[in-house]
Amino acid sequence: MLDGKWGRAKQRAMEILVQYGEALGAERFIDTNNVHLFIGFHPYPEMVTPQDADELVSKFLLDTDEKIIVDYIQTFNTTHIWAIDLERWRVMDAPKELHDLMEMIRQYCIRTGISLTATCTPYQVGNLPLRGEPCAWTESSAVPFCNAVLGARTNTEGAHSAFPIALTGKVPLSGFHLDENRLGTHLIHVELALDTVFEWNLLGYFVGEGAQLSVPVYDLKVRGVPNLSMLKALNAAGASSGGIQMYHILGLTPEAPSLKVALGGKKPRAVLRYGKRERRKTYQNLNSADNEEVDLINIGCPHYSLEQLRKVARLLQGKKVHENVALWIWTAHQIKDLADRNGYTEIITRAGGHLLTDTCPLNTNLFPKGTRIVATDAAKHAHYAPAIGGVKVWFGTTEECIDCAATGRWRGELQ
Ligand code: F3S
Repeated sequence: MLDGKWGRAKQRAMEILVQYGEALGAERFIDTNNVHLFIGFHPYPEMVTPQDADELVSKFLLDTDEKIIVDYIQTFNTTHIWAIDLERWRVMDAPKELHDLMEMIRQYCIRTGISLTATCTPYQVGNLPLRGEPCAWTESSAVPFCNAVLGARTNTEGAHSAFPIALTGKVPLSGFHLDENRLGTHLIHVELALDTVFEWNLLGYFVGEGAQLSVPVYDLKVRGVPNLSMLKALNAAGASSGGIQMYHILGLTPEAPSLKVALGGKKPRAVLRYGKRERRKTYQNLNSADNEEVDLINIGCPHYSLEQLRKVARLLQGKKVHENVALWIWTAHQIKDLADRNGYTEIITRAGGHLLTDTCPLNTNLFPKGTRIVATDAAKHAHYAPAIGGVKVWFGTTEECIDCAATGRWRGELQ
């Protein structure tokens, strides 16, 4: 590939990957057939001047001003969120130019074999690698799902590494592709029962702060089996306050049948305790708002599961969204199709809310005009929204968020 025998696109991709592998200290490449790409270009709208998709991809994802034509990407791939909801972009007040740019990229994806899933939760829409499968995923909240929950293997790739990896099907053998880096380093004694998404958000945020880039091993003193929605919250929260990419839950996740196996027979580097005091402090850290009058209720971070949409529809049944607030609910468009069929979308829309897909305000910074206070049930959104959107945030349960949508006021408190 490096010699150009397989064409210029693969050659350029391999030039990048050789540099990348050297920087990582990798001895060789391994094969992958599972890449979660990032092809939205939305963080740089002001820099996106080429009105030609091949030029755009060459510039941003192959790091060259030379126009490189990609024929077809053989590697199986899905895509992370992009800039707008292509059908409901007017709800987001997105500029027409951005819509046109996204439509151009959509056509590029169709031509080159990119599976445009446009979600931060590829595992909810059919990208479910098996244990041990080498992957290359972008999106910090999806990476721990791949590593810890599924037992597949990925590092946190960026837009600029994932695209060359997809073009070549080669990923540097480093980081979480290696057995020794997957072993637990920090032991977390969890002394509280965790039976809601809200509780798993708090735990993940606490542990991310304490363990940063390490590999936590959760020892749940009160036994319980978290579901998909709960683990989504744990992953997103821990990747926001820290950089958790891999963890173990004793007796539950694939590589943690026992403490000895999870730690590789070694002693933990640190032991953290999560009890009532830690829970309260984490909750306080996540709440930055002081005014009870809310402008936007933003839920669905990471993109809501069908279970969560079903719950929200039930909570909203017979209610009306208060005239002073907007209710934005995010999911993957594939899951919205199911919500449509099941009548959830109709309930949400009749109440005055919006079920939106393919993106989220944190990545586009497209909040409704004049938004100052946001309410959310996601620790990740509470973490990033103040810095990205310049807003203050209330963080609480889904029930509290829907109550806020109906009353226009935040009445949540830690129980
Ligand atoms: Fe997904 Fe946006 Fe949250 S990408 S994880 S909804 S910040």
